[in-house]
Amino acid sequence: MNDLLLRVLKGEETERVPVWMMRQAGRYLPDYLKLKAQYDFFTRVQTPELATAITLQPVDQVGVDAAIIFSDILVIPQAMGKEVLMEEGKGPSLPVTIQTQKDVDALITENVEENLKYVMDALSLTKKELAGRVPLIGFAGAPWTILCYMVEGKGSKTWDKAKQFAYTQPLVAHSLLQKITDITIAYLKAQVKAGADTVQVFDSWAGSLSPADFKIYAQPYLLQIADALKGDVPVILFPKGTWYALKDLSESGAAGIGIDWCVSPQAAREFTGSKITLQGNFDPSKLLAPIPEIRKAVKEMIDGFGKHRYIANLGHGIMPNVPVDHARAFVEAVKEFGTK
Ligand code: CP3
Repeated sequence: MNDLLLRVLKGEETERVPVWMMRQAGRYLPDYLKLKAQYDFFTRVQTPELATAITLQPVDQVGVDAAIIFSDILVIPQAMGKEVLMEEGKGPSLPVTIQTQKDVDALITENVEENLKYVMDALSLTKKELAGRVPLIGFAGAPWTILCYMVEGKGSKTWDKAKQFAYTQPLVAHSLLQKITDITIAYLKAQVKAGADTVQVFDSWAGSLSPADFKIYAQPYLLQIADALKGDVPVILFPKGTWYALKDLSESGAAGIGIDWCVSPQAAREFTGSKITLQGNFDPSKLLAPIPEIRKAVKEMIDGFGKHRYIANLGHGIMPNVPVDHARAFVEAVKEFGTK
C-alpha cells in the first residue's frame, strides 16, 4: 500500500518524496508501442482492458508512485458531440470547429458519465488490478485548453485563432468556457466515483495567454473546478507557463499545483509559501541527458523544493524518444535523494 502521493497532497509529512511523470502511460515504453502498432488510438482509449494494461505499464516497469489513467483530454469534445481525429505524426484534429454562439448552443453537456462510460470502466478495472499498490490519478483538460482545440481545430504554436475568438467574441467564449467547465466537473466527479483517488486538470496551453488574459479566460474556470471537486478528492492544477498565477492558485481549493521548468523551485516556493503542495518541474528534455547528469539535476531539484509538500514530476509530458533506462534513472534518483 503506497499512498505517498495522497498523503503529500493532504500536506502530511511522509518518509519520502513521491514521484510520477506526466504522460508516463504510452509514448516511450516498448510494450506500449507494440499495442500502438495493433490498435488505433481511440480503440486503445475506449477498450478498458487495453487502457488498463497501458496504465499499469509504468507502475510495473518504471516504479512510479502513481498510475494515471490512459485516456485523452479530447474525449470531452467528443462527449459534447464533436468529432475528433487522431492522425499518426499529426496529432489531434477536429474537422468541424466552434465559431459562433449557435455552435456553442448545440454542444451537449448532459450524460457525460454514460457517454464516457469506457473511461469509468477503465478506471474501475485499473483500480481493481492495482489493488492499492499506488494511487490512481484521473484527469481532464482545463476549459481554456479544450477551447483552444475546439476553436482552432488542431494543435498550434500560438493559438492565435482561439485567442482571436476570445478577444472578438468574449461573451461567446465565456459561454463555451462555462459549458466545458460544467461537463468537466461532472466528468471528474464520475471519475472519482469510478475509482480515481485524485484528479489533475491539464491547462497545457494556459501559457499562450498574457497574465491579464489568464485571469479572464482560464483562472476563474480552473478555480470553479477545484472548488467543485475539493470535497471529493485532492485536486492538482497544472496551468503550464503561469508562474505569475502561483500565489492566486495557492489560495484556491486546489491541493497541489504542477509547475513547469521555467520557474525555479525556490521562486515557486516563495510565491506559494507553505500553503500548497508543489509538483514538478524537471525539464522533460533533460531526460535525454546522460544518466549522471539526470541524477545531479534531480538532486538539485529536490534540494530546491525541499522534501515536504513536494511531488517530483516533469514540468510537462515525457518525450517519446526518452530511453526507458533514463526514465527509470529519474524515478530511482527521486527515491534515493527524496528519502528523509
Ligand atoms: O500518462 C499518460 O500519457 C496518460 C494518457 C494521456 C494521453 N493524453 C494519451 C495520449 C494524457 C494525460 C493526455 C493528455 C493530453 N492530451 C494533453 C495534456 C497534457 C499535455 O501533454 O499537455 C493534451 C494537450 C492532449 C492532446 C493530445 N493528444 C495531443 C497534442 C496528442 C498528440 C501528440 C502527443 O503524442 O501527445 C495526443 C495524442 C495522445 N494522447 C497520445 C497519447 C499516448 C499519442 C498518440 C498515440 O500514442 O497513438
